[in-house]
Amino acid sequence: MKKGKVDALLGIVFGDEGKGKVVDVFTPKYDIVARFAGGPNAGHTIIFEGKKFVLRSIPSGIFAEDKVNIIGNGCVIAPDLFTAEAKELETAGYNLRSRLHISKRAHLILPTHRVLDRAYEAAKGKNKVGTTGKGIGPTYSEKASRTGLRVGDILEGFEEKYAKLKARHEEILRNLNYTDYDITEEERLWMEGVAYMRTFPLVDTEIEINKALLEGKNVLAEGAQGTMLDIDHGTYPFVSSSNTVCGGVCTGLGVAPNSIGEVFGIFKAYSTRVGAGPFPVELFDETGDKIREIGHEYGAVTGRNRRCGWVDLVALRYAIMINGVTQLIMMKSDVLDTFPTIKACVAYEKDGQQTTDMPFDTEGWQAIYEELPGWQADLTKITSEAEFPEAFRNYVAYLERKLETPITILSVGPDRAQTIVR
Ligand code: IMP
Repeated sequence: MKKGKVDALLGIVFGDEGKGKVVDVFTPKYDIVARFAGGPNAGHTIIFEGKKFVLRSIPSGIFAEDKVNIIGNGCVIAPDLFTAEAKELETAGYNLRSRLHISKRAHLILPTHRVLDRAYEAAKGKNKVGTTGKGIGPTYSEKASRTGLRVGDILEGFEEKYAKLKARHEEILRNLNYTDYDITEEERLWMEGVAYMRTFPLVDTEIEINKALLEGKNVLAEGAQGTMLDIDHGTYPFVSSSNTVCGGVCTGLGVAPNSIGEVFGIFKAYSTRVGAGPFPVELFDETGDKIREIGHEYGAVTGRNRRCGWVDLVALRYAIMINGVTQLIMMKSDVLDTFPTIKACVAYEKDGQQTTDMPFDTEGWQAIYEELPGWQADLTKITSEAEFPEAFRNYVAYLERKLETPITILSVGPDRAQTIVR
């Protein structure tokens, strides 16, 4: 019987919930922090000792010197971007070599995967997904087609395998008439990145993690993106290409379901979405602009404006069900400090029909709201639950009632100290 547990920390809406900040608060409790899905499409912003870092592929536990950080088999990794990210941390004085382990089974994002990402998006015309352009979709497609290259491949006969796959991609691009690209410089950096990656421990991370669990060590599985961007359960086809939900922890790290302990579901006091796709709570008015401005809702990876709206209880209830969320974490509560009223979407409506269950296709559904009084007070100075303004306490109690799940951590500002644990 394994003594240790894998707790999951998952974005449960459209990503960008602020996982970076909480992982850092959580890290002291765990021996290992592991990423199980996604790749450099993620951008976890962490402010550490006054310096801002945006982590894409590297787990957020990297700032604590005694933790092992794992990039699991369910991830995809771009050697050039990984190198840039890792070198920035090394320059800032963090020692990575012994503490950052990469799964040999994680798939490699080639420069031509990124070209394919752009080519496929261009071919989609007005139905573009609005991807991050990092080659995520083409790399996961290749994995499913059983033609991809994995991290372990860089250890032997790599040049030949690479040339073969690149030639295949070039042929697809010629067939798509997408030939106006030049990856010479990108490819040079990518190959340098491959050489750099060889200096890291490239291991069978599933064996490492399971051995650690047997020894009673605890693991934090750090999610990327969010449930509504999951390839199976999100707003398909406007989703990412991996399983971002709790099931993805098992496949993306090689751990059994009975190793999962707590499932922390992280969401914001309002909703955002980057990229295309249905978003019933989207606000096109000045309230949406105000949320974006106060919440600094601009993409960490792409710099794009995030679409903003009120909290969506239909999506949250669905995500809690799919992931088995045991505790909720609400971020950015302070962004709503100045709003006289706060709304929450309790159902969707289309053609006179209402639903509280997530529909097959969320396109064309309108949000039905309930309205609550705003707290109109500064939450950022609050240090304990006893200081909550009454209207805020009521908002939290309302959400807990509707979601039938406790909110155990509340964030009231960007600083680590502005976190209330209940
Ligand atoms: P891809 O993951 O680059 O293929 O993009 C697919 C969709 O997921 C697009 O709508 C992206 O904007 C969105 N997406 C991917 N990664 C993130 C993330 O980390 N945060 C928020 N949205 C993301």
